[in-house]
Amino acid sequence: MKHDVADLSLAVGGKKRILWADNDMPVLALIRKKFSQSKPLKGMNISACLHITAETANLARTLKAAGANIVLCASNPLSTQDDVAASLVKDFKIPVFAICGENRSTYYKHINQALDHKPVITFDDGADLVNELHTRRTKGAGRILASMEETTTGVIRLRAMEKAGLLRFPVIAVNDAATKHLFDNRYGTGQSTVDGIIRATDLLMAGKKIVAAGYGWCGRGFAMRARGMGAIVIVTEIDPIKALEAAMDGFQVCPMAEAAKIGELFVTLTGNKNVIRSEHFRLMKDRAVVANSGHFNVEIDIPALRKLAKRINRQVRRHVDEYVLKNNKRIYLLGDGRLINLAAAEGHPASVMDMSFATQALEAEYVTKRKGKLAVAVHDVPVQIEQQVSRLKLKSMSIDIDKLTAEQVEYLATSSEGT
Ligand SMILES: NC(=O)c1ccc[n+]([C@@H]2O[C@H](COP(=O)([O-])OP(=O)(O)OC[C@H]3O[C@@H](n4cnc5c(N)ncnc54)[C@H](O)[C@@H]3O)[C@@H](O)[C@H]2O)c1
Repeated sequence: MKHDVADLSLAVGGKKRILWADNDMPVLALIRKKFSQSKPLKGMNISACLHITAETANLARTLKAAGANIVLCASNPLSTQDDVAASLVKDFKIPVFAICGENRSTYYKHINQALDHKPVITFDDGADLVNELHTRRTKGAGRILASMEETTTGVIRLRAMEKAGLLRFPVIAVNDAATKHLFDNRYGTGQSTVDGIIRATDLLMAGKKIVAAGYGWCGRGFAMRARGMGAIVIVTEIDPIKALEAAMDGFQVCPMAEAAKIGELFVTLTGNKNVIRSEHFRLMKDRAVVANSGHFNVEIDIPALRKLAKRINRQVRRHVDEYVLKNNKRIYLLGDGRLINLAAAEGHPASVMDMSFATQALEAEYVTKRKGKLAVAVHDVPVQIEQQVSRLKLKSMSIDIDKLTAEQVEYLATSSEGT
């Protein structure tokens, strides 16, 4: 079995981590049990470019139990848990091409090794496989039944391709499912971003002036959690509706040029580029900390920060680089501007990934059943799958809910008449 991981001897720890996460992924475990009997993906080649974490390992186990031949590569060079990668290869016989800290050329070599597997279904977190299949590996595009996209940034890229008439196969916007972004982006990113920052710096959140750039799903989650820990949270936005929502949620809202002067910790969660740039770094206080939790490491203009610096002290603490500016102020950049919750912590807690990955697994079964019938477009996850995942999750939490009475069903169907 071909693979490329850091060190197979790490497998013992990796297996423990995978099984520990599995305890908190009851919905996915239930689907795995069902799939291991019905084998809905029997003999299908699947390539997945996802963060190589314990939670992803449990998704891969589920797809394998469904009969698929699955290979994995990383969707981010810094997020791979090397022990998990080792265990996937050694204990679960799932090929992995991913090493934490791999350079750009190894990262793309691994993406290409995943595509050498000749997949009929792909999973992406940021559209890297789809991008290769539309540029350098176009021969492989013809055999793709569908591709799943896990994150906001990927869906934005794919919708742009669809609009330009460039898309060559159906894509499922798993990110846009309520069972994904409502929980994963908000509660998962919210908590794990705080976790990553604390692990990297050990700073006290209480009383800290924290700037959250972006008040979308991730930004809301982070701002809410940071406030819950006693921080004074300032939000920056470019969308007037989101800015208004932040203001009415009780946050101070102002442009980055204002926030830069008062903030002590800055976190970007926008999916956009150069949200913090030269003009902002110049205004920051001495010892300001800057981190990103958006998908790509372009939200903070790192080349501009490098230009402003007279000296860079790498790794003054793990995941922390100190930039000493020409004006002698120090700026601390965390995780090289990459997703801080994955670079310095463990990504989203398993319980929240349970829902995203249960949705992914059921969606793989769905596209297989509709082989050849899905239009070449970006599709939403069907509401039945969303409801099924939500019901199973509620059940796993021992939460019951009301059912509509016959009278209520009739009332709702006719209430548009207004009486
Ligand atoms: N860290 C993680 O584990 C994780 C998890 C899920 C998503 N993401 C990524 O986080 C990013 C945000 O995702 P989301 O689901 O919150 O998206 P979203 O579209 O809900 O929110 C993004 C927000 O940023 C705002 N914005 C854009 N440019 C801005 C700027 N220059 N200044 C201030 N605000 C700006 C937008 O108006 C929007 O409100 C994406 O890149 C996504 O892929 C990361």
